[in-house]
Amino acid sequence: MTRTITELYTRRFGHDMEAAPDDAAGEVVAALLSHRTHRRFLPDPVPDALLETLLACAYSAPSKSDLQQTTVVRVIDEDKRQDVAELVPDMPWIGAAPEFMVFCGDSRRIRRICERRGRPFANDRLDAFFNATVDAAMAMQNLIVAAESEGLGCCPISAVRDHAARVSETLRLPDRVFPVAGLCLGYPSGPAHVSMRLPLSATVHVDTYDDEALERDLDDYDRRRDARYTIPDAKQKHVEDYGTAGFYGWSEDKARQVSKPEGDDFGAFVRRQGFVLE
Ligand SMILES: Cc1cc2nc3c(=O)[nH]c(=O)nc-3n(C[C@H](O)[C@H](O)[C@H](O)COP(=O)(O)O)c2cc1C
Repeated sequence: MTRTITELYTRRFGHDMEAAPDDAAGEVVAALLSHRTHRRFLPDPVPDALLETLLACAYSAPSKSDLQQTTVVRVIDEDKRQDVAELVPDMPWIGAAPEFMVFCGDSRRIRRICERRGRPFANDRLDAFFNATVDAAMAMQNLIVAAESEGLGCCPISAVRDHAARVSETLRLPDRVFPVAGLCLGYPSGPAHVSMRLPLSATVHVDTYDDEALERDLDDYDRRRDARYTIPDAKQKHVEDYGTAGFYGWSEDKARQVSKPEGDDFGAFVRRQGFVLE
């Protein structure tokens, strides 16, 4: 069904668009505005030719200085897949998706190139780690967009970083290579909802950073989101510490989430992989 940009915008943000063009959305715009994460999949495999095409799309992403610092590890060995899945039992889609791969930042390849060319690698600093991370994230997003345009669904998995050392052992990631995120891929077994985003007034500023209106934006956003989907009491986080809230919006959910440490070993892991983070 062809939908206008305005319709898709309203579904994404839960409020009307200011400019409100009445135009039918082009294919790519419609796909991006309709993005949703999928966590349940049919058992059907992803055909090899399609997978190769999607990976080609991933590697068509821009790359910092054309250094091409992404490596994808496809996990096809059942034992290895289960090893990773068992680390995150509350995300059964890791083990169940027809395809699972890990997008890695890779600063090893360029160092091997330096060795081969007899040149020093003079960039041992945070920037090297950061550039590889950004490359891997952009490649993963390209794959997601391409996959969704072919009727597939995806779920990125940052939880692999909570177990970075174990995942790296399983996948034999060498020094200077680190997981950025896993990715579950397959044909969705059912619909998923479009997740409402913060308004552009909160996330896009003009000329200078200005979050004066954040509190009002957050209140409005919490209410709009709740009107579309109320988080059930059973899904409130950390009730043992914070109790059950009468009104539980997105901002309370996210504040509760980040009130507990996540991924606190990752810095040490990245240092052990040989990165200097200064
Ligand atoms: C870098 C990254 C890591 C993520 N990690 C996980 C994860 O470990 N498990 C999961 O179920 N979803 C994960 N997600 C999916 C997010 O929860 C999802 O994108 C977010 O809730 C917004 O929903 P939407 O993608 O449907 O718009 C991740 C997404 C990103 C971008």
